[in-house]
Formats: sequence, structure tokens, C-alpha cells
Amino acid sequence: MSVAKYVIAATADFPAGTRRLVEVDGRAIVVFNVRGEYFALLNRCPHNGGSLAEGVVTGLVQSAAPGAYQYTRQGEIIRCPWHGWEFDIKTGKSFCSAIRARARPFPVHVEDGGALVEGPYRAETIPVHIEDAYVVLEA
Ligand code: FES
Repeated sequence: MSVAKYVIAATADFPAGTRRLVEVDGRAIVVFNVRGEYFALLNRCPHNGGSLAEGVVTGLVQSAAPGAYQYTRQGEIIRCPWHGWEFDIKTGKSFCSAIRARARPFPVHVEDGGALVEGPYRAETIPVHIEDAYVVLEA
């Protein structure tokens, strides 16, 4: 299957801490902006198909001993709204240790409008200006 590139949004319209649900080639994919970096996951929880786009973004709680815990990586974990499984937004990795399931990740990068105008890109649903930068999904 060939990989196509899809222009999702201008970076100026996609602020940190927000997410976008897009449909490309019949697949629903959720794209996250985590402190200026972009990541994408298939919008289908591997447990039972919940919409990760509707989940709560949180951090990672880890414990080295009973009663002691650390909260880290705020904004980098998505919790499925259906049964609470948690996934690393950057990789799709599950933090349910007994389960190897992983939310499918897709590559995302930022490209200048000047490069995008030359293509090849599919499904451009937004106007592209050479002076701006855009979030581009490969799927
Ligand atoms: S469907 Fe996501 S945790 Fe069950």
C-alpha cells in the first residue's frame, strides 16, 4: 500500500495542547499537538474500538514502591474514554502492562507551504500559502 501525504492544518491554526480528528483514505486518525510537536494515532482503541479523539489527555503515573508515586509526562498520554486504557501519544504504546496492544501511530511532520505547493500531496482541503508552515500526515 502506498503512503500519501495529507495537509492537515496550518501550524498557526493548530495550537499546542489541541487535537484534530481527520478522515483520510477511509480511516479516522487523530492528530495531537504536544508542546509544538505533532503526533498521530489511528482513532480506534485496540481494546474495543473506542475513539481516542474523545479521550482525556493526561500524564504518566509510575510507582517504585507502595505509597510512592511520580507523575510525569503531562500532556503526553491519552486515556481511552471507554475503559480507561492509556497510550503514549508519541508512539501509541499501551501502559497496560499485561497487554501488548498498541494504538497504531502515523508519521506527522511540519512542512513549509513553498514545498507543499510543488506536491505531490493528496486531499488538500485547506488553501496552502508559501509563507506559512503546515502539519502534514503520512498515511
Ligand atoms: S475501548 Fe478503549 S479501553 Fe476499551
